[in-house]
Amino acid sequence: MTLKHLNIALDGPAGSGKSTIARIISERLGILHLDTGAMYRAVAYKAIKCGIKNYNADGIKKLLPSLDLKVVYKNNCQKIILDGKDITSKIRTPEISDGASKVAVIPEVRIKLVEIQRKIAANHDVVMDGRDIGTYVLPEAKYKFFLIASVDERAKRRWKELINKNICCTYEQVLKDIIFRDKNDSCRAFAPLKKAEDAILIDTTGKSIEQVAKIILDKLK
Ligand code: DC
Repeated sequence: MTLKHLNIALDGPAGSGKSTIARIISERLGILHLDTGAMYRAVAYKAIKCGIKNYNADGIKKLLPSLDLKVVYKNNCQKIILDGKDITSKIRTPEISDGASKVAVIPEVRIKLVEIQRKIAANHDVVMDGRDIGTYVLPEAKYKFFLIASVDERAKRRWKELINKNICCTYEQVLKDIIFRDKNDSCRAFAPLKKAEDAILIDTTGKSIEQVAKIILDKLK
């Protein structure tokens, strides 16, 4: 596959700052930002709505043929439309975070979502954030970055984010969730969370959002 558009892959574990940084990069460069995690979150949301117990693979696979999931942009802002409804603000809860990591293990789910992601990349300049963008979704992306940060700092960032959204949770719960997702996302057999060999590693521990964005923008110059 030869890419005609500018594609930037931004991967890393939960709370590493990917989405915030990707949004800044997209604004500065005037390109799209695709937050692929939101798509896995939408599948988890659908599974809960359909009463599928424990995100069992057979139940989830049955949902896929009729999955009506669209990624649209309003004023350059990504919206997730499921069955015709905007669910963007409903998929940030700890329950959906946990579910997204669980449905993401199912290869059929990944194949379906990756198809949509590759279509967007083929037709637009985009900075795409996720877990497997540099290794699997867009292995030929011109620019690849892999963000990391200490687990403590990532949990603190995520906890503050949730509290600011009035989502009630303790720091300990968020830390536990992040440790679970790190393991689940890295150990799955198909397209796990992994740094691409040619990705630039950035440790964001102790760095401000602006500092990290600057490192990336400088590399892109
Ligand atoms: O980036 P996020 O926290 O919104 O992602 C939620 C979950 O979705 C994450 O724990 C693993 C899964 N995911 C994935 O497997 N591959 C991606 N490209 C993006 C997210």
